[in-house]
Order: sequence, then structure tokens, then C-alpha cells
Amino acid sequence: MLARTHSAVLHGIEARVLDVEVDVGGGLPTFTIVGLPDASIREARERVRGALKNGGFPLPAGAVTVNLAPAEWRKAGATVDLAVAAALCEIAGVAPREARRRVFLGELGLSGQVRPIRGALALALAAKEAGFEQVFLPEQNLAEAACVDGLDLVAVASLGEAIAHLTGQPIARRCAPIVADGETPAALEDFADVRGQAVARRALEIAAAGGHHALLVGPPGAGKTMLARRLPTILPPLSRAEAIEITKIHSAAGRLPAGSGLVRARPFRAPHHGISAAGLVGGGPHPAPGEISLAHRGVLFLDELPEFRRDVLEAIRQPLEERRIALVRVGGASVFPCDFLLVAAMNPCPCGRAGSAGGLCACGDANRRRYTGKISGPLLDRIDLCISVPAVTWNDLARGAPGESSAAIRARVELARQRAAAHAPAGGTAAGNARLTAAELEAAAPLDGAGRRLAETAVSRLGLSVRGLHRALRVARTIADLEECDRVAAGHLSEAISYRLRTVPDHKGRIDTPASGP
Ligand SMILES: Nc1ncnc2c1ncn2[C@@H]1O[C@H](COP(=O)(O)OP(=O)(O)O)[C@@H](O)[C@H]1O
Ligand SMILES: [Mg+2]
Ligand SMILES: [Zn+2]
Repeated sequence: MLARTHSAVLHGIEARVLDVEVDVGGGLPTFTIVGLPDASIREARERVRGALKNGGFPLPAGAVTVNLAPAEWRKAGATVDLAVAAALCEIAGVAPREARRRVFLGELGLSGQVRPIRGALALALAAKEAGFEQVFLPEQNLAEAACVDGLDLVAVASLGEAIAHLTGQPIARRCAPIVADGETPAALEDFADVRGQAVARRALEIAAAGGHHALLVGPPGAGKTMLARRLPTILPPLSRAEAIEITKIHSAAGRLPAGSGLVRARPFRAPHHGISAAGLVGGGPHPAPGEISLAHRGVLFLDELPEFRRDVLEAIRQPLEERRIALVRVGGASVFPCDFLLVAAMNPCPCGRAGSAGGLCACGDANRRRYTGKISGPLLDRIDLCISVPAVTWNDLARGAPGESSAAIRARVELARQRAAAHAPAGGTAAGNARLTAAELEAAAPLDGAGRRLAETAVSRLGLSVRGLHRALRVARTIADLEECDRVAAGHLSEAISYRLRTVPDHKGRIDTPASGP
């Protein structure tokens, strides 16, 4: 007796639909699964047996063979359990023969309950793209899969419910409609909470408008973490396509809370400095997305930057440039997107007091240098904005006037991004000015006379490298966009250069201006 159902398995953050063929032949009661299953799929036989028995369904007598096709690719995860059980129920005659194109997704527990799965959104999308109309899935994953239009979703809590639905007692769980495009979710944090810190606020607005990576340098308690946490609240709202992309990543990583639908807020990830390279960029035998991919389309915050291991920081250099990471394994490569805004924070020296008013630092030159020298030079090279965050003054704290709200800042950021899109080539919209190539920059950021003279001085007298000048020009372009200017003026460039004055030495131990550094 042969029955055929369908399921799907996750591969990285994408999914593929499978044929699940189940044959029950004569002979000893065995249970074999073929078609390159990994251990988690092979164990389906125990789960399916238990679920059938405890759910009150007969296991057909004889030798059971399950074939997962196509055979050539490796399959992992427990999403096929429900499809195997459904096929056995067809063979046993307790469920009707498959009449329509449907996909079964779900892990079974021994008592017959259907457990939530990872990657439900990607799995449902794969079913839709393969032309299926109906998807059975765990009830906890309904909200997530409901992001896919035009599928008939049957959300079940148990094998019993799935069979009941197949035999004409419909299960009708529905979820609330998903949020419309371009909406910004209410955030707990807001820039209105930040008193004073005019320079840092301004610099983060520029970071958001142009997609510029930033480093916050200041003593403990200055508000670096507070400022960084609020950066996602001034980025433009997510498009639906971006929200789907983020949800797929977080779902595949098992990071979506049960019952949640589309991710609406830009991610903010703040991994601890003890994290491994695999934790940061992704890894494992069936590669799981790392923090850089969980931060996709949002902010990656590296607090206490000098405390991160050097090899760990080196590991993000390439993905930072390519905005995707390929993790190669025996089963093939998984590619995860990782387009994030990097914000790092650090103290100016081990004691944290260097450069502050009063100058109470007693670390000594050598210690200060060793501390800041721990940061990878090539990483610093990719940071356009170096922001000094002094301790907040009592006056600012006590005056009590709330700062400008995130919504007001975000409105300017969105306008600046629209302007940037107009002078950037295709793809420039989402990317921001930070990604302009040297040639694009030349066309997009023409300098006026005074600007040209300033650029010349910066190169010849301040020793700014040509690369450094290009970085400053990208920032200047963003500042001009924020101020609704077509041309880049000397004022824009000088502000941009001020964010380059290193408060820490570069990888060669150079400090641009001794006065501003430790
Ligand atoms: N500018 C500020 N406005 C209001 N509160 C602030 C400000 N700066 C710091 N604080 C308060 O101090 C706390 C510590 O700031 P935090 O961001 O953790 O500092 P850092 O990360 O620089 O060590 C914050 O949670 C906040 O309550
Ligand atoms: Mg902090
Ligand atoms: Zn010190």
C-alpha cells in the first residue's frame, strides 16, 4: 500500500518542498526512512509511532518505508513528522486519500501534539511557490505563516485535529490581519529620553540618514548604550519585503517568540563581548544565522569594543563589506544576508576618564595605547563617524526639557534618504551614501569653491588620506542631504571631517589630532 503526501524542510533560511512517499509492505514490522535524512528526521519514526498510538490511530502492520524525495539533498529538522503520520493514516483508511495539493508541516510529540517549528514563514513561502494551496501547520506558527497571501492555512494543535479536518470536521483557527506596509511600531525607547548630548544626537541622525557606521567614545555612564539603543527608532520604517526577510532569518534561527507574526521593528542586537566568531557571524553543522544576520536591516551594537577578541572582530570585516555571509558545509553552502548598521562603543581608556574635563586619567600613555590598539585597524577604517560622548552635565540632566522625539528625527532621516536616492544610482535608496563608490561620489557630491579649498587643506595640512577624504565626502553628502542642499558646501565637509578626528589611535598608532585624543 502506497500513499504520498508533501512536506517541506528548511535549508539555511530558505525552504524546499518534499515528496513524502510511504509504503507499507508485507513482512516484519520495521520502519525505515530513506532520502538523506539526518538524525533528527530519522527519529521521526519514534515520534510518529508514539503519536499514532497515543492519538488512537492504528499503525498499519508490516514494513514501513518512508522515502523523502528528491533524494539528492540532505534533509534536517523535524518538520516532516506530520506528513509521514498523515500518509500512514491514509493507508490505514482513517484519512481520505489526498484530494488536493496540500503540504503538512509540524513536529509530533509522543502524545500526538503538534509542536511549533522553525522557519514557518520560509516553509509556507516554499509551499506557495511550488503551487500548493493548503498548508497544515502548528497553531503557534499560524501568525507567522499568515504573512504569505493566498494560502489556506490549517493550524492544528494535534494529529487528531489534523485528521479531524481531513475527515470533514474543519478546524478554523484564524489570526489577526497583519500590519500594513510602512508602519512604524510603537517603541519603548525614544530619543526624547536623552537629555543634552547635542553632538551625539546629530551624529546618529547622520548615521541613520546615510547608513554610516559609528563609534561612540566616552566615559562610563555617559549614555553611549542609551543612545545606541535608540538608533533603530530613527531609521525609516521597514517595507513589507524587508519585514519578511527579517522574519525568515529570525524564524530560522529559532528566535521568534511563539505565536508572533511578521517582525515589525528594526532589529537591535547587542552581543556580549565574550561571543565567539561562530556566534557572531553564524555557524554550526546546519548553519544557523549569527548576530550579524539577526541584525540584518537593523543595528548591530558592539559595546566595549576593545574587549572583543581580535579574531572575532576580524570575522565581520568581509560580511560588513559584502552584506552577506556564505557558510559552507558538507550539505552545501548557506548564504545569510547581513546588511546592518554597526555602532560600537568604548571608553577612551581603561579607567574611562581620559579626555574628560578635569583630566583625571591615571592610566598612562602606554596603557591607553594598548587599550585602544586592541581594536582592529581595518574595522576602524570602515567607521565613518567617530563620536565623542562626554559625561552628561548636571545642567542638562536637571533642566528637564525632553529631547526631540524619535519621530521628528526620523522624518528628517526619511527626507534625506529620498534626496540621496535621487542622486544615487540604482540600489542606492536602501543602501545610503555610505555605499557610494568613489566614481559615484564624484558625480553625487560636487564641492563648491570653498569646499574644494577645505578639502585641499585637509589633505595637504591635516594629512587626511585620499580614502579618508572620500569617507568624509560621503558623510558630507549625507549632511547636505539632511540640509536639503544639492551641492556640498565647505560647512558640510568641515562637520564631516570633525567626525574623523580620531579620539583613538588608528591601527598604525596615529592620532589625527593629539588634542582630541587620549
Ligand atoms: N543624556 C542623558 N539623558 C538622560 N539620561 C542619561 C543620559 N546619559 C545617561 N543617562 C542615564 O544614565 C544611565 C547610564 O547610561 P548608559 O547608556 O548605560 O551609559 P554608558 O553606556 O555610556 O556607560 C542611562 O540608563 C540613563 O538612565
Ligand atoms: Mg554602556
Ligand atoms: Zn584612564
